Amino acid sequence: MCADKTATLSLNGQTYDLPILSPTMGPDVVDIRKLYDEADIFTYDPGFTSTAACKSAITYIDGDKGQLLYRGYPIDQLAKESSHLEVCFLLLYGELPTADQLEDFRNRVTRHTMVHEQMHYFFRGFRRDSHPMATMVGVVGAMSAFYHDSLDINDPWQREVAAIRMIAKLPTIAAMAYKYSVGQPFVYPKNSLSYAGNFLNMCFAVPAEDYVVNPILEKALDRIMMLHADHEQNASTSTVRLAGSSGANPFACIAAGIACLWGPAHGGANQACLEMLREIGTVDRIPEYIARAKDKNSGFRLMGFGHRVYKNFDPRATVMKESADEVLELLGSHNNPTLQVAKELERIALSDDYFISKKLYPNVDFYSGIILEAMGFPTAMFTPIFAISRTVGWISQWKEMITDAGKIGRPRQLYIGPTQRDYVDVKDR
Ligand code: CMC
Repeated sequence: MCADKTATLSLNGQTYDLPILSPTMGPDVVDIRKLYDEADIFTYDPGFTSTAACKSAITYIDGDKGQLLYRGYPIDQLAKESSHLEVCFLLLYGELPTADQLEDFRNRVTRHTMVHEQMHYFFRGFRRDSHPMATMVGVVGAMSAFYHDSLDINDPWQREVAAIRMIAKLPTIAAMAYKYSVGQPFVYPKNSLSYAGNFLNMCFAVPAEDYVVNPILEKALDRIMMLHADHEQNASTSTVRLAGSSGANPFACIAAGIACLWGPAHGGANQACLEMLREIGTVDRIPEYIARAKDKNSGFRLMGFGHRVYKNFDPRATVMKESADEVLELLGSHNNPTLQVAKELERIALSDDYFISKKLYPNVDFYSGIILEAMGFPTAMFTPIFAISRTVGWISQWKEMITDAGKIGRPRQLYIGPTQRDYVDVKDR
């Protein structure tokens, strides 16, 4: 990263030279860190549409090309050739593991899959009809009350243990939230199974009969996890970084990320999208929903469409669509009415001027819900599965932030409230 170019700001008859930083890929960045000190002025960018809030070497997105790279590796290659645990290693440590490193990492993760037994009682404090994301925000935050030996953010070893704990235990916690909601006993992790296979087993096994993990579903779930593993400075990751910048412990930071992910504009979109597809129900009703999405007064948006960064296509959606076709074909449910509605909706929207001109394409959440539903997950579990998958991204970004010795995140504002005025006693108001 070098600063051999400058931008010049001209203000009130004075000029200020602002260094321009060049990344390894992507647009140059104007460095405004000294702007307030030198020129007594802030910048205004709600929603961070033009602001880089950090430097990062983890994930790169080119929205115009529809490109997503984890540590330089294209997502479609990883989704085809790799596994979620290998991708976790790559994101956390920067390089693909050797066979020995992968085996060691797998062992470390699987040895941490159980949660403290006392956490079982903690679950029982929730109502059975709680949304599993509500339970997860609470239980993941509460991990800081159970794992005191991995709270010191200044100790690299403790940071490492916290990272492994969260990658290992999030699936257990999500599965427990699900089991609790359906009134079934918790299923303990089984370390002989793969990361995805173990999660399926913890969700769908019951003590009364044997459960055999379907390898097609196991592979498809592993791929969903890889596709969601990181996405540079999205809302939940930025939340984790901001929480972490105050020195909060890692479990509290990831709980903050889970809370942010829950919103329908972010990770909650997979649930919202499937509910929308079900509500549409039949292809003849699609035009009505397209018209509502185009009407600004309706407050309705096509869920699973559009993205802040991707303005060509979402490369994750391409892989997800292929995967949906494959899984439903193999399960013999390719005539699934929701898939038919999704395909037709995509076709109509992509030939409509409104969506073309605003560059609104299906995103990763458009097809993921269909696969998860075919696997037997209720819609309320879609976002928790996103959270499990994104945990490694959040932790990798959090670790990077801690070692970067950044400042506490503290945005400025454009104040538009009243100017100073004097207090008026209640009897005189
Ligand atoms: N349906 C209809 N119109 C849309 C949609 C949509 N899904 N998305 C954006 N628009 C319109 C929007 O009304 C606006 O129009 P105008 O310029 O006339 O005011 C224009 O497109 C730009 O929208 P924006 O809200 O300014 O764009 P953004 O970059 O702030 O928002 C988004 C991105 C993903 C929040 C938004 O596209 C959206 O709400 N999509 C639906 C929810 C969704 O699928 N979210 C998952 C995102 S991918 C997974 C993840 O990140 O978690």
